[in-house]
Amino acid sequence: MRILVTGGAGFIGSHTVVELRNAGYEPVIIDNFSNSNRSVLDGLKQILGEEVPFYEADCNDAGSLNAIFEKEKFDGVIHFAAYKAVGESVEKPLNYYDNNLGSTVLLLQTMIKYGVPHLVFSSSCTVYGQPEQLPVTEQTPRLPAESPYGNTKSICEDIIRDTVRSKAPVKGISLRYFNPVGAHPSALIGELPSGVPGNLVPYITQTAAGIREKLTVFGSDYNTPDGTCMRDFIHVVDLAKAHVQALKLLDGRQETSYYDVFNVGTGDGHTVLELIKTFEEVNHLKLNYSIGPRRPGDVEKIYAQVDKVNQVMGWRAEKSLADSLRDAWRWQQKLEEKSKKESGTSVA
Ligand code: WQD
Repeated sequence: MRILVTGGAGFIGSHTVVELRNAGYEPVIIDNFSNSNRSVLDGLKQILGEEVPFYEADCNDAGSLNAIFEKEKFDGVIHFAAYKAVGESVEKPLNYYDNNLGSTVLLLQTMIKYGVPHLVFSSSCTVYGQPEQLPVTEQTPRLPAESPYGNTKSICEDIIRDTVRSKAPVKGISLRYFNPVGAHPSALIGELPSGVPGNLVPYITQTAAGIREKLTVFGSDYNTPDGTCMRDFIHVVDLAKAHVQALKLLDGRQETSYYDVFNVGTGDGHTVLELIKTFEEVNHLKLNYSIGPRRPGDVEKIYAQVDKVNQVMGWRAEKSLADSLRDAWRWQQKLEEKSKKESGTSVA
């Protein structure tokens, strides 16, 4: 079965391409490299031993999308392509609404036009804001998003839900990710943040690599065991496998219209300091960090209740936080090796 993976050269998209291939699907990537790197395609080729069909295109470009759907016969779509920087979305909300909502609307219109029935959407636990109760279930009410980025995820879920409700020939699943971390064990693909990382783990690995001088822990006066924020950190390979399971669930549903949402996390919460300690232990190093002020907009603690995704979708996280942090560091070291080699050749 041929699956279109929008944003397939991105962090989660590329790992999902690997797991799709491993499960016997034929992934096809669309990516405009606005937040990813062409080198990911080489990494995928090394892991899979074959080229992944790829189109350099923008999911907001109707002409390109129609031409690709005209040429390819897709059985489903996994939609990752979106702007995802929380802070940037506050500064440039219109870019985020235009890109993230526009691409989802156009994708659905094109899927209906070409008779492509299944959509898996990349959503986020950010739709819950700071939940009253923990762990969060799929029934936990969505709260007004802390950022335009989070709001676009919530609105896209509604766009898909309402399209399904309109009896359009589409079945959809929204996967609400918790905090994706780590890298492929081969260290051939991983997270490639552009500029200064906003997210915790890439900032940690760049600090350990000496690229960043020191990690600042944003706040230690939260109502958690050690005062630092709590999150549900999920290995990106486990998260990628959840997308394969979601496609299988859609294939198995007989009804013409079906929509559901699933929390995709480990079900365990870990604090920022616990993560730092784990990183130091598994990688036998000391990290240079200090405690700083809270980061505005941060949620104090959130982690998933995972009964539904375990029981209904037949998926559960298999990798530990230690696995994620070992793989993240191995990937960072590979990046360092590569950049030293490249800078070495440029000197020669
Ligand atoms: C995690 C914790 C920070 C950096 C966001 C989005 C979510 C998803 C992942 C896109 C927080 C602390 C961080 C640092 C720190 N986005 N931290 N020092 O904010 O939970 O989630 O990114 O896919 O939708 O909401 O992730 O990694 O930025 O922060 O102390 O230098 O680490 O305060 O408590 P977050 P994060």
